[in-house]
Amino acid sequence: MPLKSTASAVASTTTARRLLFLLALPVLGLVILTLSLAASNAHAADAASGKPAVRTLIIDTDPGADDVIALLFAMASPDELKIQALTTVAGNVPLAKTSRNARLAREWAKRPDIPVYAGAPRPLVRTPIYAADIHGSEGITGVKVHEPSQPLAEGNAVDYLIRTLRAAPEKSVTLAMLGPETNLALALTQAPDITRGLRELVLMGGAHFNGGNITPTAEFNVFADPHAAEIVLKSGVPITMLPLDVTHKVLTSPERIAKLRGIGNQAGKTVADILDAYVQHDMQYYGLPGGPVHDATVIGYLLQPSLFKGRQVNVEVDSREGIGFGQTAVDWYGGLKKPANVNWIAEGDAQGFFDLLTQRISRLP
Ligand code: RIB
Ligand code: CA
Repeated sequence: MPLKSTASAVASTTTARRLLFLLALPVLGLVILTLSLAASNAHAADAASGKPAVRTLIIDTDPGADDVIALLFAMASPDELKIQALTTVAGNVPLAKTSRNARLAREWAKRPDIPVYAGAPRPLVRTPIYAADIHGSEGITGVKVHEPSQPLAEGNAVDYLIRTLRAAPEKSVTLAMLGPETNLALALTQAPDITRGLRELVLMGGAHFNGGNITPTAEFNVFADPHAAEIVLKSGVPITMLPLDVTHKVLTSPERIAKLRGIGNQAGKTVADILDAYVQHDMQYYGLPGGPVHDATVIGYLLQPSLFKGRQVNVEVDSREGIGFGQTAVDWYGGLKKPANVNWIAEGDAQGFFDLLTQRISRLP
């Protein structure tokens, strides 16, 4: 082909290409818009159907027998829960043991991808208390413990929370809290701006209709650091609380534990052995037919919120010395006309919870 006609051919081809591109733009925009609308509709549909959206998750924990069940439950659910890290705090047992136990749960779940950061060794103000009488001297009932091969991550959990939440996209991170709220309270005090990165706090703690489990009025996680709970409840971050009001309705039974054991994998045996020992105290103390698996209900809520029911209420913590120390005051009927800062969960589908727990534990080694 002669040079001139080649050049004009190239020019007209370029013009044609430009024209095609301009024509394609609105179509491309329409495709992107349709896809993003479909995604948000799917998200809305999931939410409406009670199916969970995928969560970027950090779990703050004081393992703790029921914490270990919760951690295994969560680590068996990687499609929905993108666990960034476990952060540990003193609570059921001292920090060295809660941190070792978090690493043990990680080893049992075969999830070496999840770092464990150790956090606060003691509450903000009050004298430390522990619950080794419930969780055993090593912090996990019913099983032998050992020193896991994979170490803690370098650095303190509070510093990890601050740098991670500062770097996170707005409202992107869910923090599940299974123990005293000391780590987050310290992070909020040092860096109030981290609330920007938080989507929601989902925490096990508090008691209202049920009454307390460590005193007649207080639940252990709040009682162990009421000053931390006060800071967290005033943070302005969306909070869902799973208190004793619901955990004491989602109880084990011999059949439910037998089903876990019957899975036939090591994880099912470990969970059943832990629960068989862990629930004895509460069954005897409260005269219940089964025992609560407090912290695991937090994971159940994250995975299938439709299993639970609650209401937006105002919740405050009493941190004054005395019989009400650590009590969560819940304005269930809104009489005080104060801002509702907590989604307080009071009901749960026990069978649905244990079916989901069993199904997820069956995924583990
Ligand atoms: O009151 C129950 C809570 O206190 C649970 O989180 C249990 O692990 C203990 O930390
Ligand atoms: Ca706990």
